[in-house]
Amino acid sequence: MKIIIIGGSGTIGRSVSEHLSRKHRIIIAGRTSGDVTVDLVDSASIEAMFASTGPVDAVVCIAGEAKWAPFGDLTEEDYYIGIKSKLMGQVNLVRVGVSHISDGGSFTLTTGILADDPVEMTTSAAMVNGAIHSFVKAAALELTNGLRVNAVSSGLVKDAVDKYETYFPGHNPIPMDKVVNGYIRSIEGKDNGQIIRIYDN
Ligand SMILES: NC(=O)c1ccc[n+]([C@@H]2O[C@H](COP(=O)([O-])OP(=O)(O)OC[C@H]3O[C@@H](n4cnc5c(N)ncnc54)[C@H](OP(=O)(O)O)[C@@H]3O)[C@@H](O)[C@H]2O)c1
Repeated sequence: MKIIIIGGSGTIGRSVSEHLSRKHRIIIAGRTSGDVTVDLVDSASIEAMFASTGPVDAVVCIAGEAKWAPFGDLTEEDYYIGIKSKLMGQVNLVRVGVSHISDGGSFTLTTGILADDPVEMTTSAAMVNGAIHSFVKAAALELTNGLRVNAVSSGLVKDAVDKYETYFPGHNPIPMDKVVNGYIRSIEGKDNGQIIRIYDN
């Protein structure tokens, strides 16, 4: 398969890219690096990315940001960071991507455990993750030509513990190979409209 991975150079993305590259042709997209650059917050940039890659068999997004801050400090503009990047960035990847993906292709989006088990400072990030879960379930009902869409929702990955551990007291970090398998399941399996949860509660 020809697979584009937005965020394919990131902490999770580079492991997923490395694994998938053993069997598939991988195109890495990122904001500042990769085979092609794209800014998820700009749907014209998403259009340009697909124009440069040509048709693909799978679209994987392991990118998107949201503002982390105490609830009392979050401004309206702060919420729009997550809405424009992680939420609408991924929605637009599917909305635009349906015209650039082969029949039977798949979209795999990324959310996270905060949708189900938020921690302090994540009102915006948790909200956005939950919205993506609802989007995936609803969009899957209407995709045509055998297209599929799923989200991988993992807990804090072991490789990111140094950065985020203090925000997740008592959470068991998830080994990267389990997270990678969530993406493999979505791309190579037949799931559609699924939230693939990789948690260790
Ligand atoms: N790390 C975890 O434990 C964990 C757990 C569950 C869910 N998640 C979610 O998984 C996703 C990836 O996490 P990560 O830890 O791998 O992040 P990361 O190491 O910061 O990597 C993020 C990647 O996404 C790209 N990116 C960011 N904003 C972008 C934009 N607007 N347009 C295009 N590309 C963009 C970055 O490109 P540049 O470097 O060029 O900016 C980078 O390649 C995030 O949405 C995160 O919330 C992470």
